[in-house]
Order: sequence, then C-alpha cells, then structure tokens
Amino acid sequence: MPAMSEMAATSPAGRDAEWWRTAVIYQVYPRSFADANGDGIGDIRGITEGLGALSELGVDAIWLSPFYRSPQNDAGYDVADYCDVDPIFGTLADVDELIARAHALGLRVIVDLVPNHSSSEHRWFQEALASAPGSVERGRYIFRDGRGSCGELPPNNWQSVFGGAAWTRILEPNGTPGQWYLHLFDTTQPDFDWTSAWVQDRFIEILLFWLDRGVDGFRVDVAHGLDKDQGLPDYDATAASAFTPGPYWGRPGVHEIYREWRALLDTYSDGRMLCAEAWVSPLESLAEWVRPDQMHQAFNFEYLVTRWHPTALRDVIRDSLSAFGAVGAPSTWVLSNHDVVRLVTRLGLPTDTDLSHGIGRTTAVSLDLTVGLRRARAATLLTLALPGSAYVYQGEELGLPEVIDIPDGARQDPTWNRTNGERFGRDGCRVPLPWTASDPAFGFNTTGAAWLPQPAGWRDLARDVQRTDSTSTLRLYQEALRLRRVHSLGGGELTWHDVSDSVLSFRVGGLRVIVNFSQTALELPPGRVVVSSAPLEAGALPADSAAWLIDEEAVA
Ligand code: GLC
Ligand code: CA
Repeated sequence: MPAMSEMAATSPAGRDAEWWRTAVIYQVYPRSFADANGDGIGDIRGITEGLGALSELGVDAIWLSPFYRSPQNDAGYDVADYCDVDPIFGTLADVDELIARAHALGLRVIVDLVPNHSSSEHRWFQEALASAPGSVERGRYIFRDGRGSCGELPPNNWQSVFGGAAWTRILEPNGTPGQWYLHLFDTTQPDFDWTSAWVQDRFIEILLFWLDRGVDGFRVDVAHGLDKDQGLPDYDATAASAFTPGPYWGRPGVHEIYREWRALLDTYSDGRMLCAEAWVSPLESLAEWVRPDQMHQAFNFEYLVTRWHPTALRDVIRDSLSAFGAVGAPSTWVLSNHDVVRLVTRLGLPTDTDLSHGIGRTTAVSLDLTVGLRRARAATLLTLALPGSAYVYQGEELGLPEVIDIPDGARQDPTWNRTNGERFGRDGCRVPLPWTASDPAFGFNTTGAAWLPQPAGWRDLARDVQRTDSTSTLRLYQEALRLRRVHSLGGGELTWHDVSDSVLSFRVGGLRVIVNFSQTALELPPGRVVVSSAPLEAGALPADSAAWLIDEEAVA
C-alpha cells in the first residue's frame, strides 16, 4: 500500500482547502492549446480533450486565459460579456463539461477575471456612450472633459501600455466631439471607475456566477491598476516603468476591493482562491496583495525577470520567501506566461537584451538556442524545487522557443499596430502548440489552419515525439513534478547550502538541489542523483545544468 502522503499526492482535488499553497498550476492559453473544430483557433472542447495530457504531466490545476464573449482585440482580455463564452471558443455547456472533466481527473480550474477594463463593445460602455456627460452610465467608466479651449487635448499625459495616448475622444450622441475616456490598454478597453459602487456590485455578481459554476479560483488581471488617483495628475514619464507606482499602478485603494472578494470566497469552504497579476515592486509591496484577508497568491514577476546568475537568483528567492512568509502567504514561482518572451529564447540571449516589447524579425539579437534550452531545463529544476506554488505556461514543458519570424501581416497583438510595428509585442509566445509530429498543424487540429503560423521545426518538439523520448524536456517536467510530490517540495523548508559565482545549492524536503552556472562540469557531493537537467559527464554535473540529489547527510 502506498504511504499516506503519496496517496494524497495523487489526488490534488481531494486535498485540503489550502491546496494552492503548494500547487503547480498550468496556464492554458485557449486560442493556442488545441482546436477541436478546426477553424484555426483553439477552443474549450480542445482543452477538455487535452486534459488527459495535463494530468499525465502531473500538474495540480489549470488556469485558463479569457474565453469570454469578446471582439478579441486583445486576445480576449477585452471582455464584452463576463458571464458568457465567446462563440469562437464554444459555449457555457462546454465550460461546464471542461470543469467536470478536470475535477474528475483531480485538476482544479482557475479562470481569468478582467476587472480593470471591459471591451468597448460591452453593453455597459455602449450605454455610457449613449448617455450624457455626468450621467450614472458615464460614471461607471472614466470619462472626462478634455483640456484646451475646446477640450481638444486629452485630460492628462497618461500613456497606454500598448503605446499611444491612454485617452480617446468620443463623439457625443448628437454627433459633436465631446468627452474623453481612459484606457490604460487598447482604445477598445475602457477602464472602469472602481469608486463606483455599481461597478463593485457587478463584479461580485460575476465572481458568484463563476464560483457557483464550480471554478476553483480566479487569476485577477491587472490587479494593481483598479485604483486611479481621482485628481488624474500627469504621470512622471521619466519614472515610468511597469514596476513604478504612479497615479494608477499599485495604489492603496485596491486592497479594500480584494478584502471584499476574499470574504466572498471564504464563504466557500473548499479552497477557492485568488491570484493577483500585479506588477509591483519591491516584493514587500507585492506581499500587501496577499495579506491573510486579501488574495491567496500573487505572481512573482521579480523572479521571472531575474537574470541567470546564482547570487541574483539566491537573493530573489530569499527575499520572496521572506516577504511572502512575513504575511503568511506562499511565494509563487513564474518563469513565463503569455505576455513575455519564451524562457528558452530569453535564456539564450545576452542578459542585457531589452525584451520589454517583444522581439521579431528585425531585432538584432545574438541568440543561442542550445544554451537557452540547457539553461531553461536547469531553471525548471530550480523552480520546481522551490517551496510554494509554481506556474507553468503551456509549451514551456515542450521547451518551445519564442517564434521570432512571424510575418508582419500575421501579427495580431494590438501593440504591433498601435506602435506602427515599432514594438513586436507578444505573438511570438502565443503560437499554437505542436501535439503530433506528422499531422496538419502538428495536431493542433485536423485541418492545418492556425491563427498564427507554426514554425516547421516544431515537428521535432511535438508532444508525441517527446513522450517517447526519455531525454525530452516533456519527460523532464513530468519526472520533476512526480518527484516534487513524492518529496513534498512545495511544502518544504529551504535551507541554503552553497552559493558562489558559479553554483547555487540548497536543501529542501530531504533533497539537495544543485545548479551549476559555470562553464565547466561540477563534481557532485555524495548522494544519489534522482533527476538532472542534462546527462552527467563522468559523474559530474555539466555546465548550465541542475540536479536533485537524495541528501545522504540529511537522511542520516
Ligand atoms: C494583462 C494580461 C495581458 C493583457 C493586459 C490587458 O497584463 O496578462 O495579456 O493584454 O492585462 O488586459
Ligand atoms: Ca476552434
């Protein structure tokens, strides 16, 4: 009979209400996961059919990027109806089936909630446009008169994250140029006014709608942006960066909102959770999002942006555990998502490469994908050993690189058009997944259609090829996830062992984790290697590789 701990480990949904503290959560990007009806865009039925592969991989939960009704100007992050499914993805019944199937497999399901803005096609925004300045309908969004003698200038200097002004002037119902509305993202993504009790109430209803459909939690989009300085002062552009607090990022008013949401989730006793997408720094500030009465998790982007260097990584790991630990929250560990250049490519580039706006055809980069993959595999063993909860972005487990040579005309990220092609944006990490080497669209569907073209070289990275190759990246993830459970690493205590300019090493859950950052092989200490990111060379750990050892010293 297996030990109790192993039995519990095989049934994530059966675990306690605090499952999220140690969970490995797989991000599904619905457009690109699997396409059941063959129109070239992934869909809910495709995801349901792929759940078996995710269960086999060994993750505990999935997070689905938005599948709600949407004109798809920002790949679904422009929501026109929060309680319905976009026809390109399927129906509510399809989602019910997905949730049921996932739960039957022991996988929790987290959905994306986009509260900072809606689509301009949302009925609420259309009602605001049709109503007069100063009306309650306008008060749900952020409408203001312009500056200048005829209101011809935007209310302030705020810039859209996607480029260009964050304000757009409307035509009033009588056809004359009138007020401006705020959109921190695309023109078609108007920001809500979160001081409005009406807006707050609508989102409580939306949370309830999905909670009662059985979702296990929410990833909260732009969780740091809901509270705007009501005086709308100009932004100090010289200080502007995703991490810089300003008149709209990381302001204190957001916390009241999340307290209310938390109280609502706590009325369900079976472990519903909230995870903040909050680009705030330092980690002590981010930890304010996960105080006991607020969210359960926040994405640790400081970890994601840390360069491949032992002391830099040691510092961010130590600081994360201490900042989140101070408020009783687990840290999360994130290596990639649908907004950033894929890990293998990132780690194959010189560390000073500017990746903030994506890379493409004309970016001058010196890229070494062999080094990138080697380091990505080592980074994976490092990450999956850390105490807390880890996120895996679809395709990471296949070692997919960023697609750099997407033809200009195929690009879809609004950033690309808003900046006239100056910023490539995020399409390169969103290309449909390869499932099988010898089928059309590599098994993404059966027709060969794909909303972004897949590189021919992805044949070799297809899931079916990797499943039967014990040296593949897929098998590495699978084995690491299995061992992570067996040794309860997510709930383990980390103690540092050795950190130098070339080595990072610590103990956790009875294992010793060693990462070799040097360019020469490293002699390993006594102990049994249970997994390594590259084959050992005469018993030594090769450059840019990592290993987990049963720590004989700790066992003794
Ligand atoms: C978040 C999402 C990103 C989206 C933006 C606007 O950063 O992750 O994909 O474009 O919010 O909703
Ligand atoms: Ca489809």
